[in-house]
Amino acid sequence: MAINARITGTGHCVPSRVVTNHDLARLMNTSDEWIQQRSGISARRHVDDGIAPSDIGVEAALKAIEAAGLKPNDIDLLLVTTLSSEHTFPGTAAFIQRKLNIGTIPAFDLRAQCSGFLYGLSVAKAFVNSCQYKRVLLVSVEVQSRALDFSDRGRDTAVLFGDGAGAVVVEPSLDVERGIMSVLLHSEGEHAERLWVEYPSLAKSPHVSPEIVAEGGVHPKMDGKFVFKHAVTRLPEVIQETLASLSLTTPDIDWWLFHQANLRINEHVAGLMNIPMEKCPFNIDRYGNCSSASIPILLDEMVRRGDIKKGQLIGLAAFGSGFTWGGAVLRW
Ligand code: UT7
Repeated sequence: MAINARITGTGHCVPSRVVTNHDLARLMNTSDEWIQQRSGISARRHVDDGIAPSDIGVEAALKAIEAAGLKPNDIDLLLVTTLSSEHTFPGTAAFIQRKLNIGTIPAFDLRAQCSGFLYGLSVAKAFVNSCQYKRVLLVSVEVQSRALDFSDRGRDTAVLFGDGAGAVVVEPSLDVERGIMSVLLHSEGEHAERLWVEYPSLAKSPHVSPEIVAEGGVHPKMDGKFVFKHAVTRLPEVIQETLASLSLTTPDIDWWLFHQANLRINEHVAGLMNIPMEKCPFNIDRYGNCSSASIPILLDEMVRRGDIKKGQLIGLAAFGSGFTWGGAVLRW
């Protein structure tokens, strides 16, 4: 019997603390005008003391499980995507599993940075289509605020990133017309150092030191213009490739959910592909770049608003550190 993996429930959680551009301008030499003009961001959310990535991941997960009409114990595989892991090891999946109290099902982290949700979707689809697991919980969670450098030295990245979590449940669909129709993935390790956190590094001795911390080696570093240039090249490529794999064209797609790295990137990509911006909803203005959590947060907001209707075609695309990038098409 033919089956196709389908998203049956979505959820998200963003921390309640709103940090505006004006708040950041009190900490570093930046301005609301610069941030909005370059990125489209007005505010982002930061976790309060005492909140762990797994806490917001669990909130998002519970909403997705409920939306799917399931109970936590119905889940038979837990997949977590993150670039801001709770600890070096074990993965954040271990802490989410414990907080969900879901027995001994397999639980692991998948690291593909801002493209993590698409990588996770691809793995979930493969497991469901092969019938190895039936109810996969995919949680994309990022707490980036604790690793940012809020001095002038870190202003080029600190203003961009935010905290948040998005989750989906993936199950078999007997209606093969609906579901995750295609996910295509790429990476290019050649450019790993263009957007990275260098330390702690087990390639180095010492792997971290007070000097390294003082020099800012534990904070994200980005060659912004280089990343921007590659993003606006790779995203159109992978969108074309994904559409071609299904014999679709851009007007066939009802909604485009792009990774929320920079509104200017998405406007550029939409312009290159003749996609009207009305088909490209965004939340980067409110949440900044939540890395792998950006797309599932946006997806859940749209589903809960009733914007996404049964039978519609949804295009997804993301680009990020690694570099990694990918595209997907869902039939809702
Ligand atoms: O999610 C993963 C993927 N990430 C991305 O896709 C991000 C890609 N890159 C970008 O979005 C853009 O490159 C940025 C938004 C990060 C930066 O925009 P930009 O137009 O490339 O600016 P820039 O880095 O060339 O910096 C321009 C100026 C510099 O000053 P000078 O050298 O011209 O005097 C920076 O020092 O802006 C300065 N600058 C800032 N000024 C005020 C850098 N950060 C800030 C800041 N506030 N926060």
